[in-house]
Amino acid sequence: MKILYAASEAQPFAASGGLADVAGSLPKALVEAGHECMVVMPYYINTVKPEVREKLEYITNFYVPVGWRSQYCGIFTTELNGVKYYFIDNEYYFKRDFGLYGYYDDAERYAFFSRAVLEMLEHLEIKPDIINSNDWQTALIPIYYNIYYKYHHNMWGIRNVFTIHNIGYQGQYGLELTEEIFSIPRHLSSIIEYDGDANLMKGAIEMADKVTTVSPTYAKEILNPWFSHGLDRCLNSKQYKTCGFLNGIDTDMYNSKTDKDIPANFSVGKMAGKKTCKEKLLEEAGLPGGDSPVMGIISRLVEHKGFDLIKCVLDDVVCSGIKVVVLGSGDKQYEDYFYYMQNKYPEAVSFKCGYIPAYAKRIYAGADMFLMPSKSEPCGLAQMIALRYGTVPIVRATGGLKDSIMDYGDESGEGVGFTFQSYNALDMLGAINRAKEVYDDQTKWKKLVETGMKKDFSWKQSAKLYIGLYEELCSWES
Ligand code: GLC
Repeated sequence: MKILYAASEAQPFAASGGLADVAGSLPKALVEAGHECMVVMPYYINTVKPEVREKLEYITNFYVPVGWRSQYCGIFTTELNGVKYYFIDNEYYFKRDFGLYGYYDDAERYAFFSRAVLEMLEHLEIKPDIINSNDWQTALIPIYYNIYYKYHHNMWGIRNVFTIHNIGYQGQYGLELTEEIFSIPRHLSSIIEYDGDANLMKGAIEMADKVTTVSPTYAKEILNPWFSHGLDRCLNSKQYKTCGFLNGIDTDMYNSKTDKDIPANFSVGKMAGKKTCKEKLLEEAGLPGGDSPVMGIISRLVEHKGFDLIKCVLDDVVCSGIKVVVLGSGDKQYEDYFYYMQNKYPEAVSFKCGYIPAYAKRIYAGADMFLMPSKSEPCGLAQMIALRYGTVPIVRATGGLKDSIMDYGDESGEGVGFTFQSYNALDMLGAINRAKEVYDDQTKWKKLVETGMKKDFSWKQSAKLYIGLYEELCSWES
């Protein structure tokens, strides 16, 4: 099969979150499974590293309709790990200084991008069997395909899959943008209209042939208003075409045996390097050494990641003898809070504000425990990465956290972490205390660490599920 994966970010070119990891690793797995896979993304000229930019090859340019205007679009390409990458170039839209998103004209930028993807297929005469679009930024692709392109020469019969990585971001705008920016004629405006807004994710759910999300539990959770950010009515009516596949991670990139970003390598049976990683991490974090357990937190500092719970009980955690190493940035109230805690407990709490990928790896490798108390978590990749580096996750049983981390207390003996059920600070503290108890019995702890390291979180299994879904769509009659 020929698959086009459309995303607003992809590793290793431009990344702001988990979507980039998935867009960087799933296509690679599809190619390894014998399929042809292409990735299309915006050309963020200020974000792509100069040495990578040099390798991109210019192919062509054309003009793309955005409302009543026509905008320049250049196409660049390169190949990596057998995956063909296409970059949509327009400096007015994508040459920006402060990150990938959050600009006043994001609606227009991604309307342009979505339309440009389909125009590119026509200009280059590429006909994929499947287009897999991701999140609100590419939600207009299945919509434009259905209203403008499906009867075009060479475009008939392409199937559209839409993947939700986080339902919290739906691309909600005023209805006045419908014609002017989204190029959707008034008589078709009901496609994106929802609760008085133009809602791009709702439109994609309506128009895609299949909707997927990034874990089986999240696929069920988003049918419920507590998780759905208002989209439950829409999703409940489309259950027949919705499913959830757990993400994998790039097991070459995250490999404690070969990683060059960590001070010492280690693997099951050869764990001496993990001790070195812990010592070096404490040094780097400015904390005194010793035997106490170290708990890592690497996250965007936003409410739904569970920081309100952490704020309630961090004093107790520190008093129980756990050292805490935090890396992340986001809402100012949480940044201020971690600075405050670092000042209060200079020997036990360390906070670095920002996102430093190599330091993140040193935390994964050097910590003993990893905390993710998310209120909601579509999939979450950090808990799987932590396990690869012999670090035991403590998570709230929600979304992909529930699907990937079985509790240590489970009768099966296959538990790899500590989980708690309700979104409650004392329940979280209970899970942390249970982890500490097991840590204090080093024989049990070492066994737990090695069980976790042996788990397979590669894309092998999940890529098969995507392929199965794509094959089902290809077998539909045109
Ligand atoms: C989003 C979700 C996260 C998921 C990632 C990749 O960032 O919040 O849970 O792991 O997408 O699908």
